[in-house]
Amino acid sequence: MAKILVTGGAGYIGSHTCLELLNTGHDVVVLDNLSNSSVESLNRVQQLAQKSLKFVEGDIRDSQILDRIFQENTIDAVIHFAGLKAVGESQQIPLAYFDNNIAGSISLVQAMERAQVFKLVFSSSATVYDEANISPLNEEMPTGMPSNNYGYTKLIVEQILEKLAIADTRWSIALLRYFNPVGAHKSGQIGEDPRGIPNNLMPYVTQVAVGRREKLSIFGNDYNTVDGTGVRDYIHVVDLANAHLCALNNRLTSQGCRAWNIGTGNGSSVLQVKNTFEQVNGINIAFEFVSRREGDVATSFADNKRAIEELGWAPQYGLEDMLADSWKWQKQNPHGYG
Ligand code: NAD
Ligand code: UD1
Repeated sequence: MAKILVTGGAGYIGSHTCLELLNTGHDVVVLDNLSNSSVESLNRVQQLAQKSLKFVEGDIRDSQILDRIFQENTIDAVIHFAGLKAVGESQQIPLAYFDNNIAGSISLVQAMERAQVFKLVFSSSATVYDEANISPLNEEMPTGMPSNNYGYTKLIVEQILEKLAIADTRWSIALLRYFNPVGAHKSGQIGEDPRGIPNNLMPYVTQVAVGRREKLSIFGNDYNTVDGTGVRDYIHVVDLANAHLCALNNRLTSQGCRAWNIGTGNGSSVLQVKNTFEQVNGINIAFEFVSRREGDVATSFADNKRAIEELGWAPQYGLEDMLADSWKWQKQNPHGYG
């Protein structure tokens, strides 16, 4: 079993991944500055796993903290979640995004190099694909210039890591291109807890369901899709967490930098998500159609064959599970972690 440094491990995807790591016998060290999370998520992870992890409160841009972590712990590999992720905010304060996401990633790999740790799994996004590509999107398709600064940081970090692995063959890097992570752990104890008004569909739906928001605004009903609303590839966060374990195993025994799509391969429209949520959970979601959101595409879903064939990973959960689990988390925790 390995000792894994998880940056951003207190966040939504990080906390679910820490739980799966502990459950499979790995040792976990989390570095998180808590800018978008709370330690309560990690308390719950440890309760669920009945095992402890080491938490360091700090920033990936702080090289002293990173050096100390690598000196005090024999780290085998790093899973790098830490970063800012709000698309709208990235347009208003781009420097904060360039600094946290790009400079932060450089700071991390510099510290890894000093410590001679060369195994890395990076949280990328389907947003790196050129918008002209037609779904299903596969990893051979061209990347493009994302329409927002958040997406731009993901593309730049991917390219930096690719160049790093070419220059120094000791590196072994997985770029996981997530599609749309939703859902929560079956226990309902950990889940997504966005600050302020949610940007993404799923937390908005659950906040309407729990009475925190009046109604869902559906951004556009005139797309060329099954019912006119946008189609995305929703992936259960526990399936996504497990993809990191598979990628980690793959990287422990191979070199280079390689990208994998992490999605189910199925697209669902906004109306299908809303209607299925209502059926599965027996709750009505008030909604209205409003105009399209700038930067949105009609359809985005994954070709996930490469991850299935090369990582030995396969999604276990369907849309109904995702929507039931999202609701269980929100119902049990109407105000998130408080
Ligand atoms: P999150 O905000 O819940 O988690 C990110 C964590 O990183 C938070 O706990 C935050 O406090 C921490 N953090 C931020 N900047 C930091 C810094 N400079 N130093 C240390 N810690 C820092 O987000 P998430 O949804 O769990 O996303 C995790 C990663 O996956 C991010 O890199 C995100 O861009 C990427 N991603 C997310 C999605 C999504 O829809 N959730 C989709 C594609 C990619
Ligand atoms: C968005 C980001 C993407 C980022 C991803 C994960 C944009 C343009 N894209 O992707 O860069 O990687 O989140 O953080 O912001 N919808 C509504 N009403 C809502 C919210 C969403 O109708 O209140 C619709 C959207 O138009 C879309 C679908 O629901 O069709 C999913 O939206 P969202 O959850 O924001 O994800 P993406 O747009 O795929």
